[in-house]
Parts: sequence; C-alpha cells; structure tokens
Amino acid sequence: MCEAQPAGANYDEAQVPAYTLPELLKCEDGTPVTTADAWTTRRRGEILEQFRSQVFGRSPGRPAGMKWQVTSNDSDALDGKATRREVTIDLLGDDTGPQMHVMIYLPKQPARAPVILGYNFMGNHTIHKDPGITLSQAWMPAKAPGVVDNRATEASRGSRISRWPVEKIVADGFALATVYYGDVEPDHATGWRDGIRARLLPSGKLRAPQASDADTKSTTGAPADAAPDDWGAIGAWAWGLSRVLDYLETDANVDAGRVIVFGHSRLGKTALWAGAEDTRFAAVISNNSGEGGASLARRCYGERTANLNKSFPHWFCGNYKQYSDHEERLPVDAHMLIALSAPRPVYVASAVEDRWADPRGEFLAALAAEPVYRLFKLPGLGVTEWPSVDTPVGQQVRYHVRTGKHDVLEYDWEQYLAFGHSTLGR
Ligand code: GCU
Repeated sequence: MCEAQPAGANYDEAQVPAYTLPELLKCEDGTPVTTADAWTTRRRGEILEQFRSQVFGRSPGRPAGMKWQVTSNDSDALDGKATRREVTIDLLGDDTGPQMHVMIYLPKQPARAPVILGYNFMGNHTIHKDPGITLSQAWMPAKAPGVVDNRATEASRGSRISRWPVEKIVADGFALATVYYGDVEPDHATGWRDGIRARLLPSGKLRAPQASDADTKSTTGAPADAAPDDWGAIGAWAWGLSRVLDYLETDANVDAGRVIVFGHSRLGKTALWAGAEDTRFAAVISNNSGEGGASLARRCYGERTANLNKSFPHWFCGNYKQYSDHEERLPVDAHMLIALSAPRPVYVASAVEDRWADPRGEFLAALAAEPVYRLFKLPGLGVTEWPSVDTPVGQQVRYHVRTGKHDVLEYDWEQYLAFGHSTLGR
C-alpha cells in the first residue's frame, strides 16, 4: 500500500484558490431544482452519470451466475457474546472467478440486527484475535504486519484490532460484516489482472483474456482494452459491497433494510461511491476519505487529483486522469458525492492532523451537500462554521473532526454507533 505524500502539498489556508463549486441544485439545462421529487427523478441521475463517466467509471450489475455458501458458523464466538459466520461469495458463480470471503459477527440481540458493512485493509483475521477467523489466502501488500511473500501468516492475526471494536459493536446491537478489499481486486497498478475487472466488463458480459493482460509493467491501472469510462478499482470495490448486500438480503439474522456502509480512507471513498450507486444501503459513513472522497477537490489543499492519478492510477477511471492539475474542470465535486447519499443519513468524519485529506474541505463539502437534505425537510449539520475538535455536529448529515491522525479510533466508532441508532432506530 502506497501512502505517498510528496513534499510540496499546500497546507496553507491562504493559498487555497478562489473557487466556485458546480451547482448542486441546477439541472444541466438550467432548470432549478426546488423539490425533493425533482432531485430524485432528475438531478440525482445527472450527477450520478457525471461521477460514472468522469470519476469512478461504470460498473456492471449483479452477475447472473453469482452464488454463495456459508462456510462456517459459530454461535459461541467472542465468549458467547456473538455468532461468527463466514460466507464465500463466488462472484462469477464458480471458483475460477474472484471470491469474496465475508465475515459477520452477529449480536445475540436483536435477532435481526442492523449491520455495519465495511472492508478491511489486511484480511478478516486482522480485525480480532479470534482464532476461529479463517486466515486470508489473498495477495497482501508486502509491508502489512505478519505478511511474508505477499501472503498473510498467523503473525498477522489481530494486527488491526485497534480499528475494530467488535465487542462494543455487537454489544450495541449491531452486526459487523467485513471483507478484505483485495478479494475483489488487489490494490496495486496491475492488481486488476487478478481481480474482477479482468473477468467482467461494465456491460455485464464476461471478458475474454487478452494477450496484453500479460504486461506486468503496465502502469495505466486498467486493462489495455478498457474504455476511459470503465470502472476503476474503487468502482470494483464499491460494486463488491453491493454483492455482499445481495447476500445479506438473504441472511435471516440481519435486517437488510438497515445496512450502513462504512469505510476508512480509500475505503471511505469506496463507501461513498457504494452508497451513491446502491440506494439499498440505508446510511453511509466516510472516515477520513479525503481527496476523491469527501473533501473538496477545488480547494487544492493537501492531496491533489494529480497525486491520486500518479500514485494510484488504478483507483479511478481513465477519464479522471484529465483532471490532474485541473480540478476546476471537474464537472462535479465532493459535495455532490455526499449529496448522492440523500435523503439517507450520511456521516463525514475527519481527523485534525490528517491534513493530507483536508479535514476542513471535508466539512465544507458536507455543508455544501445540505441543500439537498433541506429539500427533503431533513435536518443537516446545524452549524455553518467548521466545529471545534471532538465536537460532533448534525443529524441526517453529521460531521466531526477528532483529535489525532489519519486512523479509525474508538472515538469514531462511538459516534457511528450513536448515529446508526438515532437515524435508523434500535
Ligand atoms: C494515501 C492516499 C489517500 C488515501 C490513503 C489511504 O494516503 O493518498 O488518498 O485515502 O492513502 O487509503 O490510506
């Protein structure tokens, strides 16, 4: 995993250029959007299309042959406090296609629990020391703890527990569903060769292997035959979250009408896009998602579009490359991505030391998304100024900037659980 943060990024508020955000509530033909209905039936679709064609690319639907199997079920997990269930999704319906290994911790109560669904960065077995969790066999970045020759070893078990307070989540009545994001596509420039994008086209047709697929030196981040608006890796990861939701809809122990999609950092960008593409998700949480996620690109603060395109050429679609150093030409900005969650509850969270992700830009994007919530007569942030650290604000649109660095901490989870209950009920 590259954490590229080159020198020379702007961290000076005085250097933020003057900018005008693309209009949220004006249709492409100039018609003002003044009702919730006009948003839902017209404007939302226009914005979604811009994100598909220029930012994340187009994704297919659910593959016809997709199937799944429950591979383990332990109703006495976590000292009897939870049920641990593992499910393998064969994305193409056979074991030649990528498989997603989903792990779910279900609370004892309620019998049909609301769910927080989020990818993990290093394998299901890293989120808890629980020896019953199947060790991931997938490709892992070399520098992840306990990884040898790009594969996880027993030494990596529990290495990410600080980010996943599992006991607290289940005690609060939520199920936690998680998957290693690399199951769908390994996160590097030629990871698509071993992921879903090598096998499935945005049209939904199967993709035949191409001679050019053998080029391990390719740096474009996409198959040579990909169109500039074909899905990138974030599109593929987001699509994978919808496939997990397809499974959850059939699990009698979860309330599939109350699934919150959650993600941190690149996976926060992914969660926002999953929530935009799939309105079955009942709520969206973006944790420190930054550039290409919740922060306003036009502020040119911290990470820039050019940094994303250079360090992670596989994340976005081909068309996105033309916005390197030209954020002002983007037809959209982060306020529109957040607004695609509306009228569902959305939480944008920042960390004050995470300047690379532009915490203030994340707040300003959430604020600029509010007019859509107003059309639905739903309460937004309730403030117009960037709040003090550790002071969560808002209702249907929520925000906090917490003390500390780029990370997911217990503090964040406390806010998310309270948000889940107050917006979706107990
Ligand atoms: C890098 C990248 C960010 C991303 C982050 C992460 O820092 O530049 O855009 O959010 O990695 O996913 O951890």
